[in-house]
Amino acid sequence: ESSQFCDAGIGYGESTCGVSSSSSTKLLIKGGTVVNAHEMEVADVYVEDGIIVAVRPNIKVGDDVTVLDATGKYVMPGGIDPHTHLAFEFMDSETIDDFFSGQAAALAGGTTMHIDFVIPVNGSLLSGLEAYEKKSKKSCMDYGFHMAITKWDEVVSKEMEIMVNEKGINSFKFFMAYKGALMINDELLLQGFKKCKSLGALAMVHAENGDAAYEGQRRMIELGITGPEGHALSRPPVVEGEATARAIKLASFMNTPLYVVHVMSIDAMEEISKARKSGQKVIGEPVVSGLVLNDSWLWDPDFITAAKYVMSPPIRAAGHGKALQAALSMGTLQLVGTDHCSFNSTQKALGIDDFQKIPNGVNGIEERMHLVWDTMVESGQISVTDYVRVTSTECARIFNIYPRKGAIRAGSDADIIILNPNSSFEISAKSHHSRSDTNVFEGWRGKGKVEVTISGGRVVWLNDELKVFPGSGKYVEMRPFSYLFNGIGKADERYLSSLKAPVKRFRATT
Ligand code: URP
Ligand code: ZN
Ligand code: ZN
Ligand code: ZN
Repeated sequence: ESSQFCDAGIGYGESTCGVSSSSSTKLLIKGGTVVNAHEMEVADVYVEDGIIVAVRPNIKVGDDVTVLDATGKYVMPGGIDPHTHLAFEFMDSETIDDFFSGQAAALAGGTTMHIDFVIPVNGSLLSGLEAYEKKSKKSCMDYGFHMAITKWDEVVSKEMEIMVNEKGINSFKFFMAYKGALMINDELLLQGFKKCKSLGALAMVHAENGDAAYEGQRRMIELGITGPEGHALSRPPVVEGEATARAIKLASFMNTPLYVVHVMSIDAMEEISKARKSGQKVIGEPVVSGLVLNDSWLWDPDFITAAKYVMSPPIRAAGHGKALQAALSMGTLQLVGTDHCSFNSTQKALGIDDFQKIPNGVNGIEERMHLVWDTMVESGQISVTDYVRVTSTECARIFNIYPRKGAIRAGSDADIIILNPNSSFEISAKSHHSRSDTNVFEGWRGKGKVEVTISGGRVVWLNDELKVFPGSGKYVEMRPFSYLFNGIGKADERYLSSLKAPVKRFRATT
């Protein structure tokens, strides 16, 4: 197996770069600008045994310590990707990136943790988790799990308790689309929201009306539109807007926090904006493809070129991405994911005669940190501290792992990147670390490069070389009742006291 990783430019085993791979390495990052979500300062960062020990100017160390010079560069928390699908069996295929290659790619792009979606097996959460525990054994960086809910009964309800109380899962995703596969109905959504609320777990939704998308597909096929553009045409923004509004209103009815994954349209974003303005606890996650790409490629005459952009909800016309960027900069949307769900051209070709069979998903796990920097910070839309917030800290807070993750401070995990704002990056399938033969961001050149990635106190990315070890990544347990649940109980009390005492009525008796 090792040779295929070497081919991909991923070395592992004994260090060849002069930096020890042992987790007991002592590291000093000198002279950089240390950035957290709410402040930045020039300081040194000292790391021992995978943990940040000290952050302050002029730390003196002995010569057993590896020193990295970060003068003129930003020292920031490693990225946390809240939305990935590694080794995901989906649409008669399995994503080309597994927990090793996907994470290796992530590390090369400055992401040091991700949260992947466990898919139940025949509805069973425990079997699903078991399968993902196997898949993730080869991990080379830290990871956590969300759990999808695909059916409803007493067993699932009990399993949700086990997931939260014993397995370290604090979020559940409901697919409102993928009719006949993962899709659930409103009755299940309500039961699921109720259970999530009682457990202090965050309800997440894939918000597209699956019945409407199905109807849209019939319409395209009747019109003879079978190419990749048919995918986008069959599920326009209104399909996403409707489901987003519905999920938000049902979450309001149940009074539980809601997280909307992959917000791709103005329609969905405006529903989130409206709900947040009314005080509802709704989180909106744009993904990097939705922020920076547009739908024009879907009309490319070359099938493979067009098919690589097929994901759900679809990548929209250019105005949507721009509006999502603005929403991110204003705080209407709070954090950026990727929905990394990579299929190669052979897999995409399953849908050569019918867009409905093109496996849905695009890459992003390696590119997110660079593209958010280039598109949001370099362009002047957000500050460097906001960058840390939307790529790392906010994710850590929402999933209740802050400040172990998402911060450069004493006691936090040593998941750290050094970004050089004056250096540039270029994206290409030829040089990326994903196993896919394509990249939806092919040819992108931008400013700001992740020059060093430190994962669990080990330098894993340096001088454009990756040094990663299967099995070195740790599963990160996430506890329920994140900050989003603050005040939920008070609101329930207010609601209950607003209900007058039950009315006693006289009934006519015969
Ligand atoms: O097209 C997509 N988004 N594939 C991954 C599955 C999902 O809906 O998140
Ligand atoms: Zn080397
Ligand atoms: Zn989804
Ligand atoms: Zn997804």
